Amino acid sequence: MLSWYLPSFRARRTVATGVVAALVCAVVSVLFLMYTGNQAADAAQSRVTEAWNRVVPLIREGPLPSTLRKGRVEGIEVVDTKRRVVAATPELVGRPPIAAFSAPRGSVSAARVLCPPPGLTGCMTVVSYKVYQPQGAWLLYVAVPVVPWYGQTTAVLLAVGVSLLVTALMAAWVFRDLTKALAPVNAIRAELAEITATDLDRRVPVPTKYAEMKALAETVNDTLDRLEGAYARLRRFTADASHDLRTPITAMRTQLEEALLHQRDTDWPGMTRAVLAGVDRLQAVAADLLTLARLDAHAPIHRTPTDLSSMVEAELDRRTYQKKIIKDLPGPVCIDCDRMRITRVLVNLLDNAERHANSQIVVSVRADDTSVIMEVADDGEGIAAEHRELVFDRFTRLDAARSRDAGGTGLGLAIAREIARAHEGTLTIEDSERGARFVLRLPLCRTAQNGQPHSTGA
Ligand SMILES: Nc1ncnc2c1ncn2[C@@H]1O[C@H](COP(=O)(O)OP(=O)(O)OP(=O)(O)O)[C@@H](O)[C@H]1O
Ligand SMILES: [Mg+2]
Repeated sequence: MLSWYLPSFRARRTVATGVVAALVCAVVSVLFLMYTGNQAADAAQSRVTEAWNRVVPLIREGPLPSTLRKGRVEGIEVVDTKRRVVAATPELVGRPPIAAFSAPRGSVSAARVLCPPPGLTGCMTVVSYKVYQPQGAWLLYVAVPVVPWYGQTTAVLLAVGVSLLVTALMAAWVFRDLTKALAPVNAIRAELAEITATDLDRRVPVPTKYAEMKALAETVNDTLDRLEGAYARLRRFTADASHDLRTPITAMRTQLEEALLHQRDTDWPGMTRAVLAGVDRLQAVAADLLTLARLDAHAPIHRTPTDLSSMVEAELDRRTYQKKIIKDLPGPVCIDCDRMRITRVLVNLLDNAERHANSQIVVSVRADDTSVIMEVADDGEGIAAEHRELVFDRFTRLDAARSRDAGGTGLGLAIAREIARAHEGTLTIEDSERGARFVLRLPLCRTAQNGQPHSTGA
């Protein structure tokens, strides 16, 4: 839904274009009318000159008729030295002179606007000429209608009409163009409005006409792709989490109900141990979920410079393994890490390796210029290339693992990778001749990177 209280982009652009077009038309119209006004004034002047040319020879050389032909002016009048009208156009015959002014001394003509001059209607420009006669200067008056600055009314009508037409055409053109250009935006908006949490597989239409619209639609679709992926992962995570929590609860409930039903035949210590194992599992899942939630929320980690080799050595010595452990820990290497969390990564990798190895596990630590690399490799069945990213997803347990050990929750590697990320490192599975090879890369201690020796003695 578009908000009625917000201005529409299309309406604003259309009105703005209309206003600009109207202003441009107004300026052009004024210039045009000034031009036509000048033309009309020149034409009036030439009509006056024509009348002058026609009448002056009659005054000078005669015969001067008392009634003069009007020609292309409104009125002509000849006044003698005694201010008697000796000749005039028909409507001025027998009337007093139409004007009393004459050209000032030293000039032969003068013009005035009279509204109206006697005997004529409307405002007239009356031009007075001195015509020198033996007895003195006679006056020739020629009257033409006053020419306004814009010339003729038809010119004004033409200018207004063309201006309105141009303004309307420009506004209509912009409106139509914007309507076409914005149509994909509206389509994207309408589609997005219909996409709900259950319809995340729908995508907005991708227009092909405008590059910007295409880029917008593609970006929206990319965002929807990511949203759909994240939503699917969240759904799977929720389903898996509830499944992993429900399974031990159901098992414990069955055990307790059985025990209550057959109280005498029940092996109470055995049943209690079984229920405690269920509680342990519940506790482990809940703790893992909490760890993941903290890692997801980017909770701060407390780093201290640590020698990874001795940390690995200590962890390997802490317990006994059912598989042979081969250590490759050439010397001290320093990392800034949260010891508890990195130990957690190591323990998970060792647990997994022990579960999947046939006979031996190789644990190695080394450093290059910028990072420390810890590897845990076993000689088990390995992990197929297509599963090497999948196993880092939450609650992922491959079929082989399910049959091998029902105890795991499938959160260990997800947690390990998040811990690696929290230390600006990576945890990946890389190719090996046999079995699975997990590679943890972490940045070297800052002091070590600055040219100090790799060892810390921590
Ligand atoms: N060394 C390995 N060799 C073969 N498969 C492995 C190996 N390590 C892990 N996997 C596979 O990856 C899956 C995920 O491992 P992850 O450590 O996340 O979960 P888990 O060990 O099953 O449970 P837990 O949460 O208790 O660690 C395992 O279930 C197994 O299928
Ligand atoms: Mg594990």
